Amino acid sequence: ARKIIIDTDPGQDDAVAILLALASPDEIEVLGITAVAGNVPLPLTSKNARIICELAGRPEVPVHAGCDTPLARPLVTAEHVHGKTGLDGPTLPDPVTDLAPGHAVDFIIDTLRAHAPGTVTLCPLGPLTNIATAFRDAPDIIPRVKDIVLMGGAYFEVGNITPAAEFNIYVDPEAADIVFRSGAPLTVMPLDVTHKALVTRPRNDAFRALDTAVGHAVAEMTDFFERFDKEKYGSAGAPLHDPCVIAWLIRPDLFKGRHINVEIETRSDLTLGMTVADWWRVTERAPNAMFMGGIDADGFFALLTERLARL
Ligand code: BDR
Ligand code: CA
Repeated sequence: ARKIIIDTDPGQDDAVAILLALASPDEIEVLGITAVAGNVPLPLTSKNARIICELAGRPEVPVHAGCDTPLARPLVTAEHVHGKTGLDGPTLPDPVTDLAPGHAVDFIIDTLRAHAPGTVTLCPLGPLTNIATAFRDAPDIIPRVKDIVLMGGAYFEVGNITPAAEFNIYVDPEAADIVFRSGAPLTVMPLDVTHKALVTRPRNDAFRALDTAVGHAVAEMTDFFERFDKEKYGSAGAPLHDPCVIAWLIRPDLFKGRHINVEIETRSDLTLGMTVADWWRVTERAPNAMFMGGIDADGFFALLTERLARL
């Protein structure tokens, strides 16, 4: 199984991603979860991550709290999408487990140093503050990273928090810039993919029909999560952004993309946090990311539902 660290700001879609990973032990070993401020502030994301591990019956998975503020800017949150708790929708019990001791950044550094080079994958599902801080404080870990598979950015789908920028990159563009320039192999799931992974009514019904605690919770989370996109964009369902990262680890054949150069805008007010993706390869800039654009959405939801049934 591939060893991963999930860096996350749950978030209903982050929660589903965590559940998918914990339901897939043959392919994925979750070494730990590192929480970051993003959709909601850190006290909530670090609590929500534990709620989800306990829902999955995996309270022993360590959850470390990380950075509570972006590298160079005040935190921007997304309660308008995820609700006040970040996990609005289902009623889930407060966690009984404590946070794991030690800062998330130290956990990331120590874990990469403790494992053989090229054996640990980082899966960022929120702003890249924890990962960038670890790379800045301990550059020796960068060549030890097997790869980074992250949700963030957009090209044809442009922005969801500003006209030009996707939320995860916008919240901490300086951190994203460090990660995209790091030289670590990158696989990126932008809005171009995740806006094709929509929880339509039949797909939501399939979660509920599992008739398990996890199935009901996921149905209620995606019900809540849907409201925003439906009202705002008239979309056919909630885009399940972050689980695309975990699905790629299990079934990379479900996705299509291009190995291209992607750079982050950090200076312009108008386009701050834009992922400038050279999709048509019009520059000589070296490719640094496998930037995805297509997904077999039916295959993705079949995989997700089948895996959630195991919890
Ligand atoms: C990303 O932002 C958050 O709202 C979601 O959890 C996802 O990681 C989508 O832009
Ligand atoms: Ca997220």
